[in-house]
Amino acid sequence: MIDINLGENSYKIGFTKDLEIPSKNFVAVISEKVRQLYKFDFENMFILKDGEKEKNFKNYLKILEFCSKRDLKRDGAIVAIGGGVVGDIAGFAASTYLRGVDFIQIPTTLLACVDSSVGGKTAVNTNFGKNLVGTFYQPKAVFINTDFLKTLSDRDFKTGLGEVLKYGFIEKSCLCEEEFNLLNFLDNNSKKILERDEKTLEKIIEICLKLKKSVVEKDEKESGLRRVLNFGHTYAHAVEKLTNYKFTHGECVAAGIEFAFELALKENLIDKNYLFYMQEVMKKFDFKPVPKFSPKKLLPVMKYDKKSDPDGINFILPSDFLTVKEVKYPITIF
Ligand code: GLY
Repeated sequence: MIDINLGENSYKIGFTKDLEIPSKNFVAVISEKVRQLYKFDFENMFILKDGEKEKNFKNYLKILEFCSKRDLKRDGAIVAIGGGVVGDIAGFAASTYLRGVDFIQIPTTLLACVDSSVGGKTAVNTNFGKNLVGTFYQPKAVFINTDFLKTLSDRDFKTGLGEVLKYGFIEKSCLCEEEFNLLNFLDNNSKKILERDEKTLEKIIEICLKLKKSVVEKDEKESGLRRVLNFGHTYAHAVEKLTNYKFTHGECVAAGIEFAFELALKENLIDKNYLFYMQEVMKKFDFKPVPKFSPKKLLPVMKYDKKSDPDGINFILPSDFLTVKEVKYPITIF
């Protein structure tokens, strides 16, 4: 059990083998794949097709109208059962339906377990880019059952590893009291991780969540420290959009990490040995390569990124071993 301490928005992350839904009165927003695989059959079930493209306003509105049709009241809850897409859109619906109903996350992908189900970011995409509309709305509880990870496709499993590696490279910047040496652990245990050894997966999920807890408890609404969690993401979101979401978030984050290291080397923030070490570790997880885009193509998309401001685009770059910092680039630099 991990407690996320955020005053009145505090909640617990439970590790469980049972599907526990404490609210009697709820609408489940569930991934189509998960529903088919596990034959879930709830009374009020909104089934969402898989894929980032489903995280749109049309589906958001459909969820809200489904809740009204099923007479979900303010004392009810929306329960997300699926990966990041389901969690983000269901969370956005929960935060706005009747001005907010309880929200419960049951992540079924590695990516959702280690990152998106915790911390309260909700979102939908617009034609201008990824996650451009959303709220900070903490769940009431998160239940993690690692059995779900056994049925993920290799591609979906690896997309979660993109986020796990992100935590490895930013560990010191998370300012957590405990030291994990996550990157070293990933480097030494890649085989077990890729074989989805349960104990190993539980360990890396727990470490990532403790790192995330440390950051989110210090900066819930991303006014400063929380930006470190966007390591690799400015580039990733732009590539996801430019490829029309054909590449997964984790594949693009892995490419974003490499991009950030190359930029940091050019800026003399890191030395070559650290770049080589990053490449060596990343190679062990064999991420699907994503297409490279020229700055001319990237820039118009990056400029809509939430992290950009009128003077330029903000990147989180490695600045020391397991440490990152924010660097602003004026748009003219590209
Ligand atoms: N996924 C980054 C964050 O939760 O801030």
